[in-house]
Order: sequence, then C-alpha cells, then structure tokens
Amino acid sequence: MVREAGEQVRWTCENDERRELGRAAGQRQMSKSNSIVTPERTEDDALEASLRPKTLKDFVGQRQACENLSIFIEAAKARGEALDHVLFSGPPGLGKTTLAQIVARELGVNFRSTSGPVLAKAGDLAAILTNLEPRDVLFIDEIHRLNPAVEEILYPAMEDFELDLVIGEGPSARSVKIQLAPFTLVGATTRSGLVTQPLRDRFGIPVRLDFYKPEELVSIVARGARVLGFDLTAEGASEIASRARGTPRIAGRLLKRVRDFAAHAKKQTVDAATADAALTRLEVDARGLDAFDRRYLSLIAEQFSGGPVGIETIAAALGEARDAIEDIVEPYLMQQGFVQRTPRGRVLASAAYGHLGLKVPPQSAVQTGLFSDEAEA
Ligand SMILES: Nc1ncnc2c1ncn2[C@@H]1O[C@H](COP(=O)(O)OP(=O)(O)OP(=O)(O)O)[C@@H](O)[C@H]1O
Ligand SMILES: [Mg+2]
Repeated sequence: MVREAGEQVRWTCENDERRELGRAAGQRQMSKSNSIVTPERTEDDALEASLRPKTLKDFVGQRQACENLSIFIEAAKARGEALDHVLFSGPPGLGKTTLAQIVARELGVNFRSTSGPVLAKAGDLAAILTNLEPRDVLFIDEIHRLNPAVEEILYPAMEDFELDLVIGEGPSARSVKIQLAPFTLVGATTRSGLVTQPLRDRFGIPVRLDFYKPEELVSIVARGARVLGFDLTAEGASEIASRARGTPRIAGRLLKRVRDFAAHAKKQTVDAATADAALTRLEVDARGLDAFDRRYLSLIAEQFSGGPVGIETIAAALGEARDAIEDIVEPYLMQQGFVQRTPRGRVLASAAYGHLGLKVPPQSAVQTGLFSDEAEA
C-alpha cells in the first residue's frame, strides 16, 4: 500500500527547481524579495543551475566544512556505508542545496529531493523513504517546516532505518514496522533555531554555512564569468563581489545583470568602471545595500533616534513582513556591523551613520554605550 503511494511521487532536480520557484513566487509581493540583492531565490534565478558548482573541488569557500565533508564522504565510500546524516544551516543563497547535490554526486548515489512544507502527511514521507535505494541521499529543504507528525516518523527512520507506521483507525488500527535501506538524510534550513532538538540530535554532521569572504566571492564571480563565457577583468570581478553581500546567489545575479549592461553598451571586456556603472544603475551601493536596506537604516536613525526600536514597529513602518526583515534584511546588516539586536530592540551602530552620511547623535544608544555588553535578543 505504501509502495503504491510512493510510485506516484517523482523526485527530480527539476521538481526541486520548480518548488523553489513556487516559494519565491509566494513572496513576490514583498518589496525586499523583488530586490536585485535579495538572497532569496527569485524567478530570475531559473537558470541559476548553470552557475552551480558540480564538485567539492569547484565549490569555492566554506573551506573547513568542505574539507570535513570530503573526509567523511571518502570514509563512508571506503566502508561501503551510507554517509551519516548531514544538516546544512545558514542564510539563503549560500550553497545549501548546491552542497547537498554535490554530496550525492561525490558519493555516487541518487539524489532525491523534497521539502518540509511539501510533506503534509506521514504517508508522503513514508512513500519516499520506502523507495530509496541503499546509500541514497534524501534532501529535505526547509526542514524546520516539517509537520510534527511527519517529523515523528523521521526519528526511527534516521536512527535505525525503520519505519513505524500505524495502519487503519480505531480498534482495527495496527502498527507495522518496515525496514528501510540505509540512506543519508541531508537537511537544509535557513532557521536553525527552529529545528527541534530531537531532530537536530539525529544529524551526525551539522554544517553551518557563513557569509563568504570577499576574496572567495571574487573567485566565484570570476568562475561565473568563465561559465557564462564573457571577459571580466580582475577589478571588475572585485567590484561585483564587494556588492554581493557575502552571498554567491547575489554574486551570480549581479554578474548576469552587469553582463546585460555591458552587452547593451557594446563592451567586449567588463572592467571595474563598467561594473560600477551597471550596479549603480541597479541602485546597489558600494557595500551591497539596496534602497530597502537604506530605508531600514534611515528609519531607525531618523525616526527612532538610532533605537532601540522593536522589530514589529520597524516592520509596520516599512510595510514589510517581520519574517522577511529578520531573515532577509537583517542578517547581512548585522554581519556588516550596521545594526545590533538587543533585548529591547534594534539599535543602529555608528558604522551605519557613517554609511548613510549622517552624524551619530550624542544621545543615541550606541554613543552612550547603553547596549555594548548586552546579549543578542
Ligand atoms: N561555493 C559556491 N561557489 C560558487 N557558486 C555558488 C557557491 N555556493 C552557491 N553558489 C551559487 O549560488 C546559487 C545559490 O545556491 P543554493 O541554491 O545552493 O543556495 P541555498 O543555500 O540552497 O539557498 P536557499 O536557502 O534559498 O535554498 C547556486 O546556484 C550557485 O550558482
Ligand atoms: Mg536551497
């Protein structure tokens, strides 16, 4: 019975792409998600796959994580066993899906892909699990959004490769145990804090991805230009990289737009000046901030004297969903030291005033050092 349901499910990378697009489409209304520098996947990224590195060797950055993964993959292959379960966490566009595909390819096994919100019932997951071949990689994107009933059946599946299913209802209900092929679950999440502890504990290899260093982004941009087949100078590459918010997805997107502007201007070679002109037209400033980021910072600076101000107030004032601000806008601004999260709300750091060309007001929270030793909220 479970098999039958399973046979109707198909998992291909293509489905994965479509699902990701669906997710992006659902968010298209939000102004930040329309931005050229949103780290979220947009419809424009449909051809993103072309820039996706295919092997660990091609994957730039996240050195420590990649070296460890490569050792674990080699060891699992040598033993002929399934790789331990892997959890990738980190902001959007840093390469979680890419790495999951690479892991499967390096292991030489099938890559099956689904996502938390898609698995509505325990049976959906059961169908997928019972169809896995030994050592296959099952990728569950947005794993923090799994339905608790589905998550429950994942526990014994991950631990003992067993499925505990209850068939039927009421007095006739009976429980059955199904043995599964040993597999590797690769989970991805942009909100690691929302992954429940029991689920997190079952991942033997947790990998946290961080924003990329400028020199890593330069190589990603340079590689992208080679893949897309156009001539980009080293200075042009660093101009694009410095505005990509530490995020390869944004680097790839900016690269494509710069290429368009260069083609329009009939430039054979893209140098720093051409890249700068294109990015300025796209309203992406020297630190990779777009108009929305600047509105966010100016709002706190000008209307709330630098904070502290609550996230709900900011969201209402900007007309943007709180989640989008927390997940998409703030991580980079915090990483750049423009804003701090404190228990009493957001506080602007002095770097933000400098970037906006404003003077730090004497009574501001940052000036008086009010929050310098407070923990993040
Ligand atoms: N290390 C890297 N080197 C080169 N390109 C990369 C790298 N990491 C990611 N990319 C590029 O960034 C794009 C986005 O990566 P990916 O889809 O893996 O992000 P993600 O972390 O899964 O994002 P999301 O959370 O939105 O699902 C890829 O298509 C790829 O082109
Ligand atoms: Mg992804």
